[in-house]
Amino acid sequence: MFVFALSFAALLCVTSAWPAISGRENDYPSEDESEEVRSAAIKRLLEVFGMEDPPAVHVHKQPPQYMLDLYNTVADVDGVTKDPYLLEGNIVRSFFDKLGSEQVEFKFNLSTVARSEKVLAAELHLFKLRPQGSLTFSRQHFCQVSVYQLLDIRKTNSTQTKKLLSSRLIPVHSAGWEVFTVTQAVRSWMADEDSNLGLHVVVRTLEGSQTDLKLMRFASGRHHHQSKQPMLVLFTDDGRRSAALGSTNPHEAISTSFLSQIPVLDKSSRSARSIDYSEEEVRSKPCQRLPLYVDFEEIGWSGWIVSPRGYNAYHCKGSCSFPLGQNMRPTNHATVQSIINALKLIRGIETPCCVPDKLFSINLLYFDDDENVVLKQYNDMVAGSCGCH
Ligand SMILES: *[C@@H]1O[C@H](CO)[C@@H](O)[C@H](O)[C@H]1NC(C)=O
Ligand SMILES: *[C@@H]1O[C@H](CO)[C@@H](O)[C@H](O)[C@H]1NC(C)=O
Repeated sequence: MFVFALSFAALLCVTSAWPAISGRENDYPSEDESEEVRSAAIKRLLEVFGMEDPPAVHVHKQPPQYMLDLYNTVADVDGVTKDPYLLEGNIVRSFFDKLGSEQVEFKFNLSTVARSEKVLAAELHLFKLRPQGSLTFSRQHFCQVSVYQLLDIRKTNSTQTKKLLSSRLIPVHSAGWEVFTVTQAVRSWMADEDSNLGLHVVVRTLEGSQTDLKLMRFASGRHHHQSKQPMLVLFTDDGRRSAALGSTNPHEAISTSFLSQIPVLDKSSRSARSIDYSEEEVRSKPCQRLPLYVDFEEIGWSGWIVSPRGYNAYHCKGSCSFPLGQNMRPTNHATVQSIINALKLIRGIETPCCVPDKLFSINLLYFDDDENVVLKQYNDMVAGSCGCH
């Protein structure tokens, strides 16, 4: 996957390195062409966010509180990851039950999860309601709650119709979210989609007899408020971290260089004057980190992104000419190149490039095509610092 911030900075270094090529700055595309470039650029930006098309925008429900809390735990207001070790994988999805059954049976459609994703953990979240009034003085204080995976006996070649996934004692008088691990079941569903018959919850007294569901009630999608709906939460990793390393080659930088159109989407800053002005600045100031706000509303994505509204990707700009101080964080290679450039020993050796030398990941909380709320982490999205390389 290509890195947006990096390509922008790389392009800048290239354009400022050949200011002498006359006419280059004034070659502006026609309206038609720029519209084409704009849509190609936005399509490429979607790919950076791991999507082919923007998710369909429905009239959205309120995102589950759990997902909002999770987002606020892993990300700051700008979406930047607070602690890269907090979340094990890089995708968290929430699914709502598709059965709406009167029984405590649940089924979740996991078709949006790619086969290649590694399932790290899956949890069934059930909202336990208070017992109904007449049962408040029941002698039972605890019940055993067990979650089973429903099996297709034709496939398993056994007489078992269900498999125990998770079981524990829950106080009868409690109310609130109860979380059960169902990772095994989800792994088997990912391997064979047709085997997904759903989950079944059984409540027993401590003596082992199955209780009626009045003693221990869970909110259902059908009868209770949306905020208490049964939910499956799935933690996966799509391996983007390792893929990103292999694809940052300079050839890709050319084809994606038009991404630099994105930050100048508003027409006022698209004029030739503003570009001349910025080139003037590039030459006069040393390499430094400057703001670059990526506004999802301006790009037209605010309909499906819950958080953040945009983020500061920052960009690196400025000269890397001799002498390079330590504040420019030069590599030894960059120091030598700047010296050769200053000595003019060899023709055509430019000054080093001012580029990000530390990158941070950001988090996106959004609705997918199926109206599931998804949290995704994207590496290398924010320039943490700049240096001469
Ligand atoms: C799951 O969702 C997908 C996409 O919305 C749909 O095409 C598919 O039919 C659904 N599967 C089931 C079993 O409902
Ligand atoms: C089911 O298992 C039995 C013995 O374990 C075996 O003989 C039989 O062929 C199996 N049937 C299928 C459909 O796998």
